[in-house]
Amino acid sequence: MPVTIKTPEEIEKMRIAGRLAADVLDMIRPYVKPGVTTEELNTLCHDYITNVQKAIPAPLNYRGFPKSICTSVNHVVCHGIPSNKQLKKGDIINIDITVIKDGYHGDTSKMFFVGEPSIIAKRVSQISYECMCIGIKMVKPGVHLGDIGYAIQTHAEANHFSIVREFCGHGIGRVFHEDPQILHYGTPNTGLRLETGMIFTIEPMVNVGKRHIKILPDQWTAVTKDHSLSAQWEHTVLVTENSFEVLTIRPGDNL
Ligand code: MF3
Ligand code: CO
Ligand code: CO
Repeated sequence: MPVTIKTPEEIEKMRIAGRLAADVLDMIRPYVKPGVTTEELNTLCHDYITNVQKAIPAPLNYRGFPKSICTSVNHVVCHGIPSNKQLKKGDIINIDITVIKDGYHGDTSKMFFVGEPSIIAKRVSQISYECMCIGIKMVKPGVHLGDIGYAIQTHAEANHFSIVREFCGHGIGRVFHEDPQILHYGTPNTGLRLETGMIFTIEPMVNVGKRHIKILPDQWTAVTKDHSLSAQWEHTVLVTENSFEVLTIRPGDNL
């Protein structure tokens, strides 16, 4: 499928969807505490998205995904399914929110700490955040996707961490996952060149150990093969005339 260039009207709808997704992450923060189950976090987000935002949680029934959000704890890389498992002190968790409003998607995720995490847990969360920011700040017309992937990969590996290759960022709009694929690794001067009006996510998954993953029998949950910790952050980004606009920015976010 071709890469879509969004019209001004579509961009305005994407701003609204992006803001709603970001708002869910702010809403859920006080509930991410020892003893809460990821199922309870799912219910809080689902009810907020449907009842307050009058929006649709995109993951629910997406290709058979059974819940409204993804909750990925510790060595879970992504696509963790909310369950009756309680969070405990020292856990790190990625909560990934995608909402559909007026036909358009907003997609964003962040890491939360449950109590005080280990130094290495804080470090992998911080480096994955920096990887995302490095990628976002490169966005402008004419830049090659390979340049962005290379910069993200270089930062993770310079810090002795690894980048997951099986999942990537993606174009987004009326469709949840559309072209282009935004790889978080790559080769400079290769790949698609960005154009004004493209919208896509940047969502690097960074592992403390090796990059390899496996999918659990539930067919969704991706975990590190070596059981090392993994962290991820995600924003939805618009290519503007000469730079970028983050559609899922939250108050107080410093890129
Ligand atoms: N929100 C995820 C992403 O960033 C996709 C989740 S797909 C689901 O692309 F089915 F697991 F929800
Ligand atoms: Co995404
Ligand atoms: Co997401």
